This record gives sequence, C-alpha cells and structure tokens, in this order.
Amino acid sequence: MEAQIQQLREEALHAVESAATLQELESVRVKLFGKKGSLSLLRRELAHLPKSERPRYGALLTELQRSLEAALSRRREELRSAELQRRLQAEAVDVTLPGRRRLLGRPHPITQTLQRMLEIFHGLGYEVAEGPEIETEWYNFDALNTPAHHPARDMHDTFYLSDELLLRTHTSPVQARVMEQRKPPIRIVVPGRVYRRDSDISHSPMFHQLEGLLVDRSARFSDLKGTLAAFARQMFGEQTRVRFRPSFFPFTEPSAEVDITCVFCNGEGCRVCKQSGWLEVLGCGSVDPEVFKAVGYDPQEVRGFAFGMGVDRMAMLLFRIDDIRLFFENDMRFLTQF
Ligand code: DAH
Repeated sequence: MEAQIQQLREEALHAVESAATLQELESVRVKLFGKKGSLSLLRRELAHLPKSERPRYGALLTELQRSLEAALSRRREELRSAELQRRLQAEAVDVTLPGRRRLLGRPHPITQTLQRMLEIFHGLGYEVAEGPEIETEWYNFDALNTPAHHPARDMHDTFYLSDELLLRTHTSPVQARVMEQRKPPIRIVVPGRVYRRDSDISHSPMFHQLEGLLVDRSARFSDLKGTLAAFARQMFGEQTRVRFRPSFFPFTEPSAEVDITCVFCNGEGCRVCKQSGWLEVLGCGSVDPEVFKAVGYDPQEVRGFAFGMGVDRMAMLLFRIDDIRLFFENDMRFLTQF
C-alpha cells in the first residue's frame, strides 16, 4: 500500500506539472479526485486492510490528498498568469505608431460658391428651379427670341447631339420651361451646368450658370438694379458698387451688362481689371415681349426681368483663382485649400 501511495504521488505531481492549459489541469483533477479517480480507488482499498493498519494509511492518503490539492492550485495560478501574460502581449497596442489619417470630404469650391449665391437669393424670396442639360433648339434658342441666323447658334459655340437636340449653352431655357408650366408671379433662380465649344484660361467646355427670373404685373428695371446691387454687396462685401452698361441679349429688352468694383484692387485699377477698376460679372434685362408670347403669356399683362451669371467666374473672384480649369482637374492639392 505504501508503495502504491508513493507511486500515485509521483505520477500525480508529474501530471499536474505537465498540464499545459487550465483545461488539461481540470481533467487531471477529475482523474485524481473524481468518483472513479485514483485517490478514491485507493481509499476503497483501505477496507481490505487489517483494522490496525487503517489509521496509518488513512492518514497517509489524507496527507497525499492535501499535497495534491496544493500542487493543483499552485499550477492553476501559474497557468492563469501565463494566460494573462500571453493576452497582454497579443493585444498590446503600440502607442508610438502614427495614427490612421481620416480624409475629410468637403464641398467643391464651385458648390460652396453656388450655395452662397442661392442663400442670398433665397433671402430675397427666390426659389430654385431646374431643367435638363440636354435641351431642344426650341427652348435653348427659339423660345428665347434667338432666330436661326443668330451667332449664338453657330456650330462653334454649341454642342449639337442631333438636328434637334443639343447641350444647353445657358440656363436661360429654364425660364421658358417654368413660364410654360406656371402662372405669374414667378421668382426663381436656376443653377446648372452649361456647355460651349470653348476652352482656355477663362473658358471651360462645361461650366456653371445661375439664372434668375422674376415675373409679375409691375416689375421694373429699377427693381432689377436694386436686386442685383443687393446681391453684389452680400456676395462681395458692403463696399461693392455696381455699374450697368447697355448691352444686347435676344431675350431681354432693354439689356445690360453689369460690372462690380474690382475685388482685387477695390476699384483702384489693377492688372486683372485692366486698370478700369471694374469687372464684368453678369448679363440682365427686362424680359422681351417676344419671350412672353413664346410661352403663352400676354405681354400686355405681365412684366419681368431676368439675369444670368457664371458661377465659376464668381468662384474665381471670391477665391482669387486665375485659371477656371483648376476647378475641374480635381487635383487634391488644389481642392483641399477650400
Ligand atoms: N444667357 C446669357 C448667357 O449665357 C446670360 C443672360 C443674359 C441671362 C441676360 C439672362 C439675361 O437671363 O437676362 O450669356
């Protein structure tokens, strides 16, 4: 019996020491202390011993049980802290690594400019209307009193898609589309892309315009002047002055081109304004009676004014950009400056 106890002690201690995980250790424990475990089996042997020897071996077994329990819990602690160590190492964060840079998107400078323009006109009571970029000759030209021989119809300016269809050369056709659909009073601004066969430092084959149209019974040219002066001051600062020069557009009569005091030199005269102190920014006028007729309005009953301006040009003035093509190359070094 003594030899058996000694052998179990050695085997058990060896098993405890070589358990490599908590799970393995648990199955060693069950094999020793479980109902059919080695220790329980040995205890049962006591019954076969002479009565006089039982207390001695009973005591030895109890002592064995204690020392095995102690070995188990020591090993359990070892394995636990090894496991913790392993996790700490595996999940360690290297705080000296540079962080991952998040690229933040932002509105394109053209979009920023347009938003500002729309906000100003919103404040003046205008709502936004839109129209198609693929347009018919009728809306782009005829309805706007632009007869077939007008230079604006020249192939050099217009991208034709077929005999009838073209890429709109301006946002003005939306004037006609909206008037056809609604009765006055009308007070709209029309943002959108327009297309012309033209490309250099100040022209892009695709660019943006903002069109304005107001129609009621009594709109006067002085209302137009006040509206555009208010717009220019809010857009470029209170000190901005406007100047109206007589001009011609087929769809307005009378027509004018509008200059603002040069934003680069405050009207003093510089290279950009060619020493004049003025920059041309838009076209406008009183709606021509022929346009009212084309959309089924009675020119005796209604009056209106209209204006059109380049959004890209406004952005160039606002951000002091000297080449329109920069807006459309999408070079991040350029775009992230806004
Ligand atoms: N559509 C003209 C252009 O593209 C700009 C323009 C001028 C629009 C006068 C208007 C206007 O509404 O009244 O050059």
